[in-house]
Amino acid sequence: MTKILAAITAVQGYLPPDVLSNADLEKMVDTNDEWIRSRTGISERRILKGEGLGTSDMGAEAVKQLLAKKDLAPTDIDLLICATVTPDMLFPATANIICDKAGINGIPSFDIGAACSGFLYALTTATKFIESGMYQKIIVVGADKMSSIMDYEDRATCVLFGDGAAAVLLEPSSDDTGIKDALLKSDGNGRHALHMKAGGSVRPASHETVDAKEHYVFQDGKTVFKFAVKKMADVSHEIMERNQLSGDDIAWLVPHQANKRIIDATTRRMGLSTDKVMINIQKYGNTTAATIPLCLWEWESQLNKGDNLVLAAFGGGFTWGAVYLKWAY
Ligand code: UT7
Repeated sequence: MTKILAAITAVQGYLPPDVLSNADLEKMVDTNDEWIRSRTGISERRILKGEGLGTSDMGAEAVKQLLAKKDLAPTDIDLLICATVTPDMLFPATANIICDKAGINGIPSFDIGAACSGFLYALTTATKFIESGMYQKIIVVGADKMSSIMDYEDRATCVLFGDGAAAVLLEPSSDDTGIKDALLKSDGNGRHALHMKAGGSVRPASHETVDAKEHYVFQDGKTVFKFAVKKMADVSHEIMERNQLSGDDIAWLVPHQANKRIIDATTRRMGLSTDKVMINIQKYGNTTAATIPLCLWEWESQLNKGDNLVLAAFGGGFTWGAVYLKWAY
């Protein structure tokens, strides 16, 4: 019997129109275009502006366009999972709100919080619901409004992140295309190097936490960088070995876009040429859970059925992982 795999059958991104360039940031903090580009690869990022707009608005826009692209009705969808680290509110789940804004009602929907690896965690979770036969059509969203947790007086973090969302449709496949393997990892001790200090149950919001700027991203960049370079390269190499893949077998590496130097290290470790790597960090910065599906969306027209893709990420948690898939269309 042919094994049922879960295949991505459509992808749709949404990027807010407002651009925050390195030149703009030079006027806000003590930084410069040369430093940002040489240390990170970023030239500009998108920012979601507008009173009352949050992560769900970007996610819902991607979902509505995804449904239209596939000529699907909201009632066709069986499950929606949203990966995000910037939920609209602590509860309910942003996935619930995305469903409501996209006209989807009465199906299970929930969030997954695995920071920059969130999309890979959500995709892998969704895959199991398809493989088991429980659901036929699942939408996985990666969306983050990072500007909502950015201290635009902290040059060490504010130059790195941007806002964006993207959604993929997952369906059963019986022609050997789809998600073939996944490796997900975490190390909770890494929380000390990348976290938001307040707003959770350990340190609820108070005047004191607001005054101390504890509702913004805290990152010890150097420590995160060291782990990210090693772990993202290691896990990508491990998934290749496990599936007997060489650099020649891989059509595309789809890496999380946190720092061009981390992507380059992973590319080298996998023995890939740089023309097989999706990189759009220069335009969008680090959009956390949205980076990988946004890449798939931008490169969609260049992908061919049967292409071997490795998706790889590293981020807060620490969490990291890789997914190996055969493109389905
Ligand atoms: O996706 C989530 C996971 N996150 C990541 O993967 C991010 C990992 N970390 C990184 O990408 C890098 O560590 C950064 C891009 C955040 C920083 O690059 P770095 O090469 O590690 O720089 P650094 O933190 O060691 O700072 C070097 C210098 C420092 O000055 P001194 O101490 O050498 O005088 C910083 O104060 O650069 C200074 N600096 C800046 N200068 C201009 C830090 N930020 C800036 C800035 N503009 N924006």
